[in-house]
Amino acid sequence: MRRFVAALLLAAASAEEEVRIYFGCGCFWHVQHELIKGESTILGRTASCYQSLTGYAGGTQLNAKGHTCYGDYTGLGHTEVVGLSVPNSSVAAFGAEFWKLFVGQDRVDTMDRGPAYRAAIGVPGGMASELVAVINRSQASRAARDGWWFRLEAGEGNDPDTLGKPLVWVYDTNKYPFYQAERYHQFHDDFLPGGDYDATYNQLYSLFDSEERMKATSCPKECVNNYLGVQCIDNKASVPSPAPSTPPTTVGSQDQAIAASPLTSPSPTTSGSKDDQPRNTSRPVSGTPSQCVLLVKLLLVAKLFF
Ligand SMILES: *[C@@H]1O[C@H](CO)[C@@H](O)[C@H](O)[C@H]1NC(C)=O
Ligand SMILES: *[C@@H]1O[C@H](CO)[C@@H](O)[C@H](O)[C@H]1NC(C)=O
Ligand SMILES: *[C@@H]1O[C@H](CO)[C@@H](O)[C@H](O)[C@H]1NC(C)=O
Repeated sequence: MRRFVAALLLAAASAEEEVRIYFGCGCFWHVQHELIKGESTILGRTASCYQSLTGYAGGTQLNAKGHTCYGDYTGLGHTEVVGLSVPNSSVAAFGAEFWKLFVGQDRVDTMDRGPAYRAAIGVPGGMASELVAVINRSQASRAARDGWWFRLEAGEGNDPDTLGKPLVWVYDTNKYPFYQAERYHQFHDDFLPGGDYDATYNQLYSLFDSEERMKATSCPKECVNNYLGVQCIDNKASVPSPAPSTPPTTVGSQDQAIAASPLTSPSPTTSGSKDDQPRNTSRPVSGTPSQCVLLVKLLLVAKLFF
């Protein structure tokens, strides 16, 4: 046992430093799908270890709850991003995936207009980080092919849209942290052709939810749009139910304000569609802790020995 624990500790000590980053390039639905694919192909992660979550970042303001939500992130200066943590040495590979998200100099969803969809990268330290040069170099083959480079410039919060410009704002994650989006924006199909993702992708929702790898936010629509039949208690704790439950029909005053705001309605191609459709409510087979959770627990146990 001692040797096993020692080996575990050694593995933990030599494990390479992980860095928390985020990427934004238009609607976060398809960005999340591509980064989950990247976690699989670049790092060999499987469903129990994926991390990519949709969220908001890059704004200078927060709402009264100290967060930002789909209903207010535009007004508070944020953009849609996907956050995850990756080994330091894989940042270049994730950079290469990021550049693939663009079509020419634009996000793929050019109908999504305005700063709420601006291109963004978040790294600890922002422009001062060595990782900026790494990410910059990761576009070299694309730049050679296309004949131009994307400029990486310091984001100062609430920055303008990048549409039509070879420009990506770089944020310091210490100053502009990642705010996880509502659960109903996680593992969501995209609205563009090819965006009707495999059910195994959509079902990551249940896995992340049951393992608490994503959290119920304080956002007003966290529970209202809950197509998985999750019952909300005080907009915090939630109990997944095996059968679809009737979604709440009353819409609070905050929700009405959101519905009335032109800034916060979904883009025209998506309005009133996917969020309202019932989804497969079966939960994945549980009982075996996932490998990632198990490893974390083992490390905690190992710490107790020393
Ligand atoms: C992370 O990668 C950068 C760029 O390759 C390097 O300069 C830095 O030392 C690395 N940091 C750690 C903690 O390994
Ligand atoms: C990225 O690389 C290009 C080409 O070498 C260079 O012109 C540009 O200044 C670099 N940008 C940053 C932020 O390092
Ligand atoms: C629902 O998802 C479960 C796995 O979570 C799967 O076994 C089942 O076949 C799915 N049902 C339908 C109708 O897609």
